[in-house]
Amino acid sequence: MRPKLLLFCALVCLIVVLTEGRQRKVNSRRSLGLRQQRLQRNVRHGSRLAARARPSRGNRLSAVNKRSRRSQRNRKTNANAKAKASKARASAAQSVSDGSGYTSLPLDFQQNFVRTTNNLRFEKSFLASRYGQSFATTTGKTTLRNTANMEYTCKMNIGTPNQSFTVLPDTGSSNIWVPGPKCTDKACKTHKRYHPGKSSTYIKDGKAFVITYGSGSVKGTLARDTVRVAGLAVTNQTFAMTKKEPGTTFTASNFDGILGLGFRSISVDNVKTLVQNMCSQNVISNCVFSICMKGGGSSKRGGVLVFGSTDTSAYTGSEAYTYTPVTKKGYWQFDLQGFYMGDTKVSGSTQAIVDSGTSLIAAPKSIFNKINKILGCTVTSSGECWMSCAKKVSDLTFVIGGKKFVLAGNKLKLKVRTTKGHTICISAVSDMGTNFWILGDAFIRHFCTVFDVTRNRIGFAASS
Ligand SMILES: *[C@@H]1O[C@H](CO)[C@@H](O)[C@H](O)[C@H]1NC(C)=O
Ligand SMILES: *[C@@H]1O[C@H](CO)[C@@H](O)[C@H](O)[C@H]1NC(C)=O
Repeated sequence: MRPKLLLFCALVCLIVVLTEGRQRKVNSRRSLGLRQQRLQRNVRHGSRLAARARPSRGNRLSAVNKRSRRSQRNRKTNANAKAKASKARASAAQSVSDGSGYTSLPLDFQQNFVRTTNNLRFEKSFLASRYGQSFATTTGKTTLRNTANMEYTCKMNIGTPNQSFTVLPDTGSSNIWVPGPKCTDKACKTHKRYHPGKSSTYIKDGKAFVITYGSGSVKGTLARDTVRVAGLAVTNQTFAMTKKEPGTTFTASNFDGILGLGFRSISVDNVKTLVQNMCSQNVISNCVFSICMKGGGSSKRGGVLVFGSTDTSAYTGSEAYTYTPVTKKGYWQFDLQGFYMGDTKVSGSTQAIVDSGTSLIAAPKSIFNKINKILGCTVTSSGECWMSCAKKVSDLTFVIGGKKFVLAGNKLKLKVRTTKGHTICISAVSDMGTNFWILGDAFIRHFCTVFDVTRNRIGFAASS
């Protein structure tokens, strides 16, 4: 037993050292350029980046002011809304085929896709850029190709007649964007494009739209049209049609565009979100949506996105949802009261967000380090924690709303293929330089999540 183990360890070390050597050479050349680029970008898009990522004090204040103005407005219209609501409930029930006042949309997922270290690093750099972090140790701008994504996608139609798109339902952002007619970048050519001229319900807006990702800024203009998801029609929905999608980020992505499901306060150009319109247009009677994701198996169906209801009984176990308040409207942010590995308490109260737009989990650096220590895995210079796939990992416990949510330890291990063709396991928890947790699909897959706009709370239930 012992000698075998030693031999195995030696092998893993060798692989790590070899891969690292190469990676480091590439990285050291690249990281400076990236940092410079970031600096320039930060200057150019400073305010937007700040609004999306690390809100400055000023941004936070103005968001609060906006909110309070909005809530004053809301109070005024409250009486009106209540009267409308009962009518809405009746009409919503009619508009949905099963008559229960809500509707659901299948999520697609490439179940049998084998992830490579390149895929992983690509996703990490994309994720880091979403949160305004430079990601010097893993750049991957030129060598990493996003050959296939690990993300869950769904269908969305825009315009009359329908123009159909595959989009990424993303609780970590708040805008809708799809490739526009004037975009000639490769990413647009390899995906469906929206043609306003072919839609009788298109309304011109023309305002500029810029959203910053790792490989550059996605740019375009705003437009309005009817957006249909899950059989629900939202009229006059503002979205962006892109003109520029530089770099390789979206070239091989399994989605054409993004369906932002976050709050309006992080919406670029302060665009009213799809969910807000669904609620104000009484398209759904209960202002909530829920996501359940499935993994494994051979089916392409990856779960469900439900608008207007928390009813995910087909996916959840018998347990009811446990709710926790949204601590800050922007991302779907809440207080993660505690985190344990086995019986070891790793952290107390920490802020966390639910982000359906990433397959990974990110932890604040100090927690990330503690987790790796407990795991006893080998941290590479790319910030990945490598281990044998046979390694026994103790269960992870997330304390939310006073309840313990347990993720089996083996779910933490991501099987990946190295550039050398070896299969190893990597911890699903990474470090994105954030001071909050980012709970992506690796978490959501095990806990159906309710996003309750009306009551400003997030609910979790263990999925079966
Ligand atoms: C568009 O597609 C939806 C289904 O998503 C359908 O209900 C609707 O009738 C279609 N509309 C048009 C104009 O084709
Ligand atoms: C359509 O949306 C825009 C932007 O949200 C808004 O200013 C306008 O009043 C809306 N029009 C209608 C008819 O609701």
